[in-house]
Amino acid sequence: MSERPVAIVSAMHDELRALLPALHDARTVHLAGRAFHHGRIQGHPVVLVLSGIGKVAAATTAVLLMHAFDACQLVFTGVAGGLHRGVRVGDVVVARQLLQHDMDASPLFPRFEVPLTGRSRFDADAPLADALAAAARRCLDRADALIGAPHLLDFGIDGARVHEGLVISGDRFVASAAHSDELRALQPDALAVEMEGAAVAQACADFERPFAVLRTVSDRADDSAHVDFTRFTAEVASVYTRAIVEDWLAHAVHG
Ligand code: ADE
Repeated sequence: MSERPVAIVSAMHDELRALLPALHDARTVHLAGRAFHHGRIQGHPVVLVLSGIGKVAAATTAVLLMHAFDACQLVFTGVAGGLHRGVRVGDVVVARQLLQHDMDASPLFPRFEVPLTGRSRFDADAPLADALAAAARRCLDRADALIGAPHLLDFGIDGARVHEGLVISGDRFVASAAHSDELRALQPDALAVEMEGAAVAQACADFERPFAVLRTVSDRADDSAHVDFTRFTAEVASVYTRAIVEDWLAHAVHG
């Protein structure tokens, strides 16, 4: 990694709040209503920022990070709703591909295709996704120590796993079984749904900049998706994110 910063983007306040104490030599720059926190984590130059929720907020943040702060790579962290069977609350998903499930310019372009790009799926950077998945596995192996087994059981988490594959994004919180069934039927290989990743993917593709998306599964995108959402983000997802980011950067080579 070079002296250009690695950008770590959080969708939610609790996650940024958990990462900030890991930041050394911190200084903050304000731009476009956002606070960009520069500093070092595990010796690597980083910039931490809250993107806000949804595709526009995420794309705006990604462009600022690449154009104004020259971030060498972007990692988007947050929570997601599990779609694929076997993707359970407390699991971690590392995206290999991303798609906007609410993109539909048919009949002018095939459904899901981003007009004038010829693509519906955007690839995450493979080495970055590899490194994050490895860090996630190491952290989930010590989940009991990080969070406490009784606390995990309280959220119904027992033996969390790391999944890698398709993550789909759209400007809707998916909170009904009918909606998640529909998404599963349309994209049978989708592991999880969230509201930002595919927008970051499209912006990073324009800049030819490596990116990855790391998500902790907070719900099953069904009728109880909102239950415990805030508490889960604060007490589980934020702890995982900080541990995974620190572990990843501790193993990353300066370059
Ligand atoms: N992020 C976390 N859970 C989600 C859901 N059910 N739908 C969309 N984004 C999410």
